[in-house]
Amino acid sequence: AAYEATVTAPVNIAVIKYWGKRDESLILPTNSSLSATLSQDILHSKTTARADPNFTGADTLWLNGTPEPMSASKRLANVVNALRAKRAALEASDSLLPKMSKWIVHVVSENNFPTAAGLASSASGFAALVFALANLYQLPEAKDGEAGAGRSTLSALARLGSGSACRSLFGGFVAWEMGTHADGRDSVAVPVAPASHWTDLEALVLVVHDGRKGVSSTSGMQTTVQTSALAQERFKSVVPQRMFDMKQAILRKDFDQFAETTMMDSNQFHAICLDTFPPIFYLNDVSRAIIQLVTDFNATPVAGYTGKYKVAYTYDAGPNAVLYLPRQFVRPVLALIQHYFPAPTDVPAADYFADPYKVG
Ligand code: DP6
Repeated sequence: AAYEATVTAPVNIAVIKYWGKRDESLILPTNSSLSATLSQDILHSKTTARADPNFTGADTLWLNGTPEPMSASKRLANVVNALRAKRAALEASDSLLPKMSKWIVHVVSENNFPTAAGLASSASGFAALVFALANLYQLPEAKDGEAGAGRSTLSALARLGSGSACRSLFGGFVAWEMGTHADGRDSVAVPVAPASHWTDLEALVLVVHDGRKGVSSTSGMQTTVQTSALAQERFKSVVPQRMFDMKQAILRKDFDQFAETTMMDSNQFHAICLDTFPPIFYLNDVSRAIIQLVTDFNATPVAGYTGKYKVAYTYDAGPNAVLYLPRQFVRPVLALIQHYFPAPTDVPAADYFADPYKVG
């Protein structure tokens, strides 16, 4: 008999950025990072994994419809091998279990958003792959639920695919603790707070450009670690304090602290990109105009609101903005964005300004 499992995994957007590895093959970071998870209803990777004793040929992945042997990518092969080894260990301890670890697997994975748009499709993709295989193989870690340590163990396997993927095994607010061990066993994702903890916080994704990005994260951060003195300072003296501040901001639902730390960390990430040699530019003129708009809006008093900030921006390895904001500011901010960045006339406004927020 064949076995199959289907799962989805969410997109996570770092508010404390991961940028730099201390071990390239185990994907161990130079600093801890922290992310907020976007709603799965809108952005996710959906993955089905199937093991069948009658499959022939190679383990194969269909990524958004295109088949690829899993052995073609070292990271992909590493992830699948690690899960298969866990299954083999289970089978060795219980002779009644079907010998699924010996069977070929077929995996179908789809994102409902553009790949390589700076929207971390590899993060949700690898997280979904790990979770699908863990379910297919009926690993105890998969049955553990979000509160258990099983998810953190699985997160270390997702990390082997792409660093930021480890943070997509959980919802809500998630820390990736860098760890100290050389084998990476303590470099895992840990939940900080579930999404239900801070329901007033909303995210807006502003797609400035949905094409493939210039310099990949993997090679970009490698050059940064090799050439940027500023980056060394960031790893050592900046991020540890920010991780502390950010966790506290989230636990206290302190938007001012959250917003300031988020914006400063995004700025510093792009500063170390600029300090990389040759320099890496991910922001474009529109990205910078959005930063200016956010800054101006934050400086404009709103009657009855005493907070220092009303909205925070953050940018990954691309020009797209993610804004975090209390729900009351979603409509005014969308109205501002629509005013300064009107929808192209050949695109229906409903497509340009995707659900769930319709303006006007
Ligand atoms: C800017 O996780 O894509 O999005 O580990 O080499 O696969 P690899 O890199 P990746 O880098 C993500 C970088 C970032 C910041 C972040 O998500 O923390």
